[in-house]
Amino acid sequence: MHHEPQRPAGVCCTGRVTANAAVSTGLIRLDLELEMPAEFLPGQFAMLNPQPGSAAFVFNRPFSIYGIDGQAVSFLYRIVGRGTAAMGELVGEDRVGFMGPLGRPFPVREDDRPALLLGGGVGLPPVAAWLERWGRDGDLACFGARDGGDAPWQLLDARWGVSVDEVAGVPENRTAFHGRVTALGADRVAGVKGPGLVLACGPVPLLKAARDLARDIAWECWLSLEEHMGCGYGVCKGCVVPVRVDGPDDRTWRNATCCDEGPVFAAADIAWERYALPPVPEPGPGTMEAKP
Ligand SMILES: Cc1cc2nc3c(=O)[nH]c(=O)nc-3n(C[C@H](O)[C@H](O)[C@H](O)COP(=O)(O)OP(=O)(O)OC[C@H]3O[C@@H](n4cnc5c(N)ncnc54)[C@H](O)[C@@H]3O)c2cc1C
Ligand code: FES
Repeated sequence: MHHEPQRPAGVCCTGRVTANAAVSTGLIRLDLELEMPAEFLPGQFAMLNPQPGSAAFVFNRPFSIYGIDGQAVSFLYRIVGRGTAAMGELVGEDRVGFMGPLGRPFPVREDDRPALLLGGGVGLPPVAAWLERWGRDGDLACFGARDGGDAPWQLLDARWGVSVDEVAGVPENRTAFHGRVTALGADRVAGVKGPGLVLACGPVPLLKAARDLARDIAWECWLSLEEHMGCGYGVCKGCVVPVRVDGPDDRTWRNATCCDEGPVFAAADIAWERYALPPVPEPGPGTMEAKP
């Protein structure tokens, strides 16, 4: 049983852009120098505003924190709409609104159980931050990218296995698994004895497959969810996730705020039958060591 750690105090300020550059075809790393130091726990996020003080963005956007060192904070993001497009335009000395850290983090490491970390696309920061903070020999980290060009190889050291949907773009000196990241995870975890911990962040099909894998191998499973958010701190109720509550039957549920009671939830706590899920295609077995 994990006890939730004390959350670090949040700060609300602006950050000066110190770097904003692509780390792959799909991911951009944003580095900010905050006006004051901050701390975070892996899995926590911040609400960012690319044009603080202007009326252009009434709502801040949530982004997982990749790292914080004093006043330096970093994020990895993908351009998907208006807010992230504005982030893509940021250059040195521009200021970004920052509110964070927010939300419930992944569990802290409390014992010797190995961890299987699964990150897909923009789901890399929270699991990478956990590995950085608490990783040890025996942990298995897997990142899933669309193709070889989409993976930020320079951020993925030898601890990481990489899976790709398409093999194009895998660098000469690297290898990748051709298939789902959860298939890679299942492959790497085969033969590991005893109980462990699965921590995952990514699109809902990945989360659901991570939950299924954890159930199959009887490992504890924690998932970081990415709901649409308005306020980011529990007031607007725009981000709710159905979770189970103790009751007369196992279908008793309530709405939990993803921003405050999450974004990290125990997989067993989510009322999956009420959680909107896109159809999941049958998983393929995948093949090791795919090269272009
Ligand atoms: C806790 C949390 C952590 C996140 N961490 C990251 C991260 O580290 N890197 C990153 O790139 N993104 C992350 N996201 C998603 C990110 O917040 C959205 O991509 C962003 O808000 C989109 O803003 P936009 O104005 O560009 O898009 P919009 O113009 O608002 O929407 C464009 C498209 O993106 C979709 N979208 C909008 N918000 C979300 C969302 N929250 N989740 C999924 N799809 C969304 C919309 O449905 C639409 O299809 C995170 C979300 C949450 C809740
Ligand atoms: S985003 Fe407002 S309550 Fe969660």
